[in-house]
Amino acid sequence: MRKKHLMIDLFSGCGGLSYGFEQAGFDCVIGVDHDEAALETFGHNHPHAIPMKLDLSEDDSIKEIVKALGNTKINLIVGGPPCQGFSLTGPRNEDDSRNKLFYSIFKLAKRLSPEFLVIENVPGIANLYGGRARNAIIEEFEKLNYVTHEKLLYAPDYGIPQIRKRMFYVGVKRSYSFSFPEPTHDSKSYVSCEQAIGDLPCFKSDLGSEIAEYTTKPTTDYQKQMRDGSNELFNHVGTKHTDHVVSVIQQVPEGGNHKDLPPGVGESRKFNEAWTRYHSKKPSRTIDTGHRNHFHYKYDRVPTVRENARLQSFPDKFQFLGSKTQQYKQVGNAVPPLLGFHLGKVILDLLEE
Ligand SMILES: C[S@@+](CC[C@H](N)C(=O)[O-])C[C@H]1O[C@@H](n2cnc3c(N)ncnc32)[C@H](O)[C@@H]1O
Repeated sequence: MRKKHLMIDLFSGCGGLSYGFEQAGFDCVIGVDHDEAALETFGHNHPHAIPMKLDLSEDDSIKEIVKALGNTKINLIVGGPPCQGFSLTGPRNEDDSRNKLFYSIFKLAKRLSPEFLVIENVPGIANLYGGRARNAIIEEFEKLNYVTHEKLLYAPDYGIPQIRKRMFYVGVKRSYSFSFPEPTHDSKSYVSCEQAIGDLPCFKSDLGSEIAEYTTKPTTDYQKQMRDGSNELFNHVGTKHTDHVVSVIQQVPEGGNHKDLPPGVGESRKFNEAWTRYHSKKPSRTIDTGHRNHFHYKYDRVPTVRENARLQSFPDKFQFLGSKTQQYKQVGNAVPPLLGFHLGKVILDLLEE
């Protein structure tokens, strides 16, 4: 049986954002992406949704989504397009396929007229092209009669053990009075790396396997929350580094990076995030798509896909499909589900009023 409030996830990736909205009580009916592996993961973890492999730069894709929906009424569209999808260099050119990525969200909204529209992006979107990208988003919302709410959300404020910032634009039909969710945590109560992943096995003598067992009991509220409904551990496979990489990372203190290495060590990587070791007592750096610059706070290896997923607030029962490279990419591209949950909750409350 379908729940009452229905949504569509455009540029769904593996579906981190819509998973959080589902945890809040929405029912995601369709997820759209052009990446096969990400869609497979989406389908596996959103068993009631239809995964649609479409290129959203094509107008025909919008028609296909509308056709698949039939008479189903949608309350919410969410979308996190790649930020390159907003190219405003030179005169705005409808033929520029990258422009079309962003506008696909508005084209679908025009056809379906949902009560709420959520667009998520990197913080830089607000200043892109001297603010013209932001102004164009607001202009599109206004054309469709939505009131725009805009806010930069900081993941640790919502109990996510990772210093990730994301920009949100929420378009709201005039009859609703929306405000962004209040933070649930402050700097004194931020969830740390150790609190988030300290219960996951380390692999002293091997690299683990795709399906592993928990070896200890959860010791924190966050670990208990993440392990809820999961008896086995998926996607927790270690990486075998060269002796050179291990010897360099052994010399980086907790919370340090390439700047903390002795002269002559780790010279091959000197950029900002190079040789970063997480701090056990702090949230992690922003999880990337698998660049191998971030290392475990205690073990001399990069975090596993599962450790990254935990730091992104994916529960352990959420399984990632595809190659290990594709899994890292899916996790790093995602919006933390817990952020989606908090945003989803305030929107759902308004719909239920
Ligand atoms: C930042 S990720 C979205 C992550 C997602 N919101 C989540 O929480 O898991 C952007 C997604 O847009 C998809 N994408 C990029 N260009 C596309 C296109 N032309 N058509 C459909 N999907 C596209 C990518 O494959 C990627 O999965």
